[in-house]
Amino acid sequence: MYAIPGSTSDATSEALVATPDAAATSPKPSTACTVGEVLAESQVEAVLQELDHDLVGLAPVKARIRDIAALLVIDKLRLNLGLGAQAPSLHMSFTGNPGTGKTTVAMRMAQILYRLGYVRKGHMVAVTRDDLVGQYIGHTAPKTKEILKKAMGGVLFIDEAYYLYRPENERDYGQEAIEILLQVMENQRDDLVVILAGYKDRMDTFFQSNPGLSSRIAHHLDFPDYAVDELMQISKKMLTQQNYHWGEGASEVFDNYLQLRIKQPHFANARSVRNALDRARLRQASRLFADRERELTAEDLTTITSSDILASRLFQAA
Ligand SMILES: Nc1ncnc2c1ncn2[C@@H]1O[C@H](COP(=O)(O)OP(=O)(O)O)[C@@H](O)[C@H]1O
Ligand SMILES: [Mg+2]
Repeated sequence: MYAIPGSTSDATSEALVATPDAAATSPKPSTACTVGEVLAESQVEAVLQELDHDLVGLAPVKARIRDIAALLVIDKLRLNLGLGAQAPSLHMSFTGNPGTGKTTVAMRMAQILYRLGYVRKGHMVAVTRDDLVGQYIGHTAPKTKEILKKAMGGVLFIDEAYYLYRPENERDYGQEAIEILLQVMENQRDDLVVILAGYKDRMDTFFQSNPGLSSRIAHHLDFPDYAVDELMQISKKMLTQQNYHWGEGASEVFDNYLQLRIKQPHFANARSVRNALDRARLRQASRLFADRERELTAEDLTTITSSDILASRLFQAA
């Protein structure tokens, strides 16, 4: 489990009790009467633009997030005019293969929800089954409640959520965690957004077996695999962020590398790109390290050469 810090720092001391009237108080009304005013007031447009700019591809995901943001902005305007409504259900499922950006987008989503006043803090707590489910009788409820407490005011991201449900084991403690989650998802949806993530097919099966959970998920977002040209753009962004760039011909070699890598087992989209670049940086370092006398320029230190990529095992095998 890891927590991504939100914008406020007050300790997570909230009790896990339902506040029946809370829906009416979140988010706070303001004097904004136009979409532009809500956007300006919340600065949510900046988050949406960052999302567009920082993340390559993902057109369907970005479009869905804009739709959700639009819904929330309009809800806010309705609230400002006293057209009260129930707090919208914002629990989501993010499905897709590893490395397609689910965790990254969930953090952005937490920011959007925070800026629009749908959660108090905008932090994200990312967990897997082991963080929620205990090994022994009586251990699961306290574990799950502790995590929920940490996540209150933000987003609880449950990765590979289907592992919570193990139909082969009748007495599996995962069921207990699911029941507590269900309760909180219903009663405290004005202060906690749950995002369930994982492979699409397993998630579909999981939802079929857990209709209670499925019916509480308002938005299903599907993360497609990246094409090689998108992975190339992602690699360029990652290099730039770390102050590196491709040397002569290196980008073409990396393109070839990706064409091969994408067909290999355990290919994990943008995560595989990140790992490949990490290894290229190691090779670059060894290459520079080997020459003790040479004065290393900024250009030397920031260039990944084609040889740094070509030394990959993938090319040795081919
Ligand atoms: N569309 C994208 N543009 C740029 N970087 C991306 C994109 N999608 C994923 N990444 C990067 O790839 C890595 C893996 O993404 P992550 O969100 O952890 O994927 P997932 O949770 O689906 O496994 C992260 O370092 C992330 O920043
Ligand atoms: Mg992830």
